[in-house]
Amino acid sequence: MKLNLEYSQEIIESKEFDDYFQKAIKAADTLLSKSGKGAEFSGWLDLPLKNGFDYILKIREAAKKFKDLDTVVIIGIGGSYLGARAVIEALKEPFANNSPEIIYAGHHLSADYYDSLQQYLNNKDFGIVVISKSGTTTEPAIAFRLIQQLLIEQVGKEKAAKNIIAITDAKKGALKTLANTENFQTFVIPDDVGGRFSVLTAVGLLPISISGIGIDELIEGAKAEMYNCKELNENNQALWYAAARNLMYDSDKHIELLSSFEPNMQYFSEWWKQLFGESEGKDSKGIFPASAIFTTDLHSLGQYIQDGKRHLFETMISFDKNNEFVRVPKLHNDLDNLNYLCGKPISWINSMAEVGTCEAHQQGGVPVIKIEPGELNAFNIGRLIYFFEFACGVSAYMLGVNPFDQPGVEAYKSNMFRLLGKK
Ligand code: PA5
Repeated sequence: MKLNLEYSQEIIESKEFDDYFQKAIKAADTLLSKSGKGAEFSGWLDLPLKNGFDYILKIREAAKKFKDLDTVVIIGIGGSYLGARAVIEALKEPFANNSPEIIYAGHHLSADYYDSLQQYLNNKDFGIVVISKSGTTTEPAIAFRLIQQLLIEQVGKEKAAKNIIAITDAKKGALKTLANTENFQTFVIPDDVGGRFSVLTAVGLLPISISGIGIDELIEGAKAEMYNCKELNENNQALWYAAARNLMYDSDKHIELLSSFEPNMQYFSEWWKQLFGESEGKDSKGIFPASAIFTTDLHSLGQYIQDGKRHLFETMISFDKNNEFVRVPKLHNDLDNLNYLCGKPISWINSMAEVGTCEAHQQGGVPVIKIEPGELNAFNIGRLIYFFEFACGVSAYMLGVNPFDQPGVEAYKSNMFRLLGKK
């Protein structure tokens, strides 16, 4: 992973940077030695090595069962859904006829959505992957009730059970009990891996494999990055990133905007926002994670980024832009004045937009940390996943918070349960 700090020199060249880098090394040591807060949930650190041949085979076999279905509904919320969606959306071809079609549910409580989904699934040959580590989360539990019922009505209880896979805790929770009673195939979410760090377990790998994306390359990418991240020296780009963002935070840059010039990265940004928001936002501290897709959002958020309150810094994921196939066509009368670009690849125009944006944002007081993974492919998405997870653990320890709990999420739940009359 290459970190390009050309557009954030003022931060990196500041005299404090070295202190922050040393703090990052210390925090990484705490993370790797499992001696910090929440260390019992740091099993994700070694996941790329734990996913051996047998595990991958079991996932592939399970995915194969769903290969001929029209649709697979992935039910989950937060860390039990965003990782899979991030990878699938990043790597799928936007207009290809993807089969089976992947649909998401259980990530909100919109009655209109479920009304429409039930009608859509009617008479479709579909399967369900239901994911919940606790096995008790309300949103996916309600979605599962609705969609399982529909499946049973369509194919009967026995066949429905064959078209359902549950991913949950090894021993406890309502979903585990249900899976045992109704004989669903199950995958276990390890005890030492929390939701938002679980994309490289079956939580992410099974839906990704069902979608037809090669999980081996994803894991190989994560593995390569794991080796880089565990070397605690000045070549470690995750440490540079963690040091830079903590220095930004202490310089009153309290919002980090993750940007990319690839629309496929929208859900990757959602995954990243959960990872950093839920890990760092506690004890009245933390950088607020936001995101934008460019050039789209330069025409909506662009004004604020350029000229609004100066409490932002930007982290830009910049993939290689090599597609030379799509070029600007010639228009005989040049009525749109675009002939000066005639024959130029759109990818080159996108690159120029990116450079222009970095220059403008830096000049406007928004330092830009560029992350350059290479091409947008499964290997590099695997690398990005591990890179951000590691940098997140390090950053949170630098900030002095436990990266692996989420006590704040309970507040809305307990109010909702009181209002719902839950005993
Ligand atoms: O990161 C987390 O731990 C959370 O986002 C959970 O993944 C989310 O709340 C869903 O929980 P569960 O998998 O228990 O249904």
